[in-house]
Amino acid sequence: MLDIIKRRRSIRKYMPEQIKDAELAAVLEAAAYAPSGHNSQPWYFTVVQNKELIDSISNNAKQVMITSPLEKAQRLGSSENYHLLHNAPTVIIVSGDTEAKSPLELPHHTFGSYTPLADCAAAIENMLLTAESIGLGSCWIGLVNYFFTLSEEVAKLEIPARYQPLFAVCLGYKDPNLAGAVAAKRKSDCVNYIR
Ligand SMILES: Cc1cc2nc3c(=O)[nH]c(=O)nc-3n(C[C@H](O)[C@H](O)[C@H](O)COP(=O)(O)O)c2cc1C
Repeated sequence: MLDIIKRRRSIRKYMPEQIKDAELAAVLEAAAYAPSGHNSQPWYFTVVQNKELIDSISNNAKQVMITSPLEKAQRLGSSENYHLLHNAPTVIIVSGDTEAKSPLELPHHTFGSYTPLADCAAAIENMLLTAESIGLGSCWIGLVNYFFTLSEEVAKLEIPARYQPLFAVCLGYKDPNLAGAVAAKRKSDCVNYIR
């Protein structure tokens, strides 16, 4: 497991060939087995394998990014070569349940003890690691939130009303020229041992 964790990289260049249905199923199964607060499983996955729709998500997000006060977002938004979803053949939109209910009805649950953001993040990490373990490339996409501001466009994703889209995950076969991409340096000063 540690080997797979260390080997996984965010892949930003994919082969155009579509992944196999069995590979997609394995990634989705891994997501479903993530831990979640109160076992609420507050996630919903929208698998997009339609290139036209994937491109339109990227183009629409970039239009919003151009209007951002952030210089980096503006630059990416106006860059012709930049594809927000890295031209991946499969994109999974991960949405969190805004009405997540615990099977337990204890008083402290009124304090908002549901954790769809954390739970969806756990599901995404399971997806990325499973993708790596079966030879797929993947990338977690937060910038897709620029697209999520466009409610009319988001409606095309047919996400049930109670779910809020949070992130996208790109999947595809890695461009072989990227084999062995080196991991960015990791911090080493982030652990305190109290024994
Ligand atoms: C919440 C989150 C949002 C991210 N959003 C993007 C994104 O929009 N586009 C992108 O190319 N990478 C995105 N990444 C990938 C990070 O840039 C990447 O994980 C980080 O640079 C470390 O590289 P590694 O994944 O290869 O270890 C995101 C990662 C996380 C966890």
